[in-house]
Amino acid sequence: MALSAAELATVKQAWAKLTASSFEDAGEKVFLALLKDPNIKANFKKFKDIPEASLPGNADMRAHGKKVCTVLDKFIKGDEGAAKSTGTMHKGLGMSNDQIGAMRGALVAVLNDAGEGGAVPAWNKLFDHFMEVHKSGY
Ligand code: HEM
Repeated sequence: MALSAAELATVKQAWAKLTASSFEDAGEKVFLALLKDPNIKANFKKFKDIPEASLPGNADMRAHGKKVCTVLDKFIKGDEGAAKSTGTMHKGLGMSNDQIGAMRGALVAVLNDAGEGGAVPAWNKLFDHFMEVHKSGY
């Protein structure tokens, strides 16, 4: 279901705050949260053998996080194409939609850490819509 104008404004305001310094910084925070789960970390051949204590500041993780944030940024701005093609790409990697859904928890953790817990309900709606579009790429 589409977000209301107020919900979209809430999403955008929180996203502007999270990404104010850079998409690398935001992406790093998101991936530090995501990769805490060893079952998720095991899917990333680039990161699975890096000990958790060495992940902060890791250049590959920051670069990957930037790419993921770029897809989310386009989606927030109303461009759904990248989300759909990311679905097709994840399918090709053998990743399920349930696995990709783990990003919701990472985003919520980062929003809460940034003092943006009030934006979580609007972000949940955005993420629901992201997953619908992502699934359409499978
Ligand atoms: C909002 C959610 C997500 C977005 C927008 C997203 C986006 C992307 C993008 C753009 C790439 C390509 C990176 C490149 O070209 O180097 C990628 C790769 C990948 N994604 Fe995702 N992703 C998301 C969530 C996840 C989650 C939750 C998982 C695992 C549970 C996952 C697993 C992977 C894997 C294994 C790769 C391949 C990495 C490699 O190059 O070795 N993604 N994703």
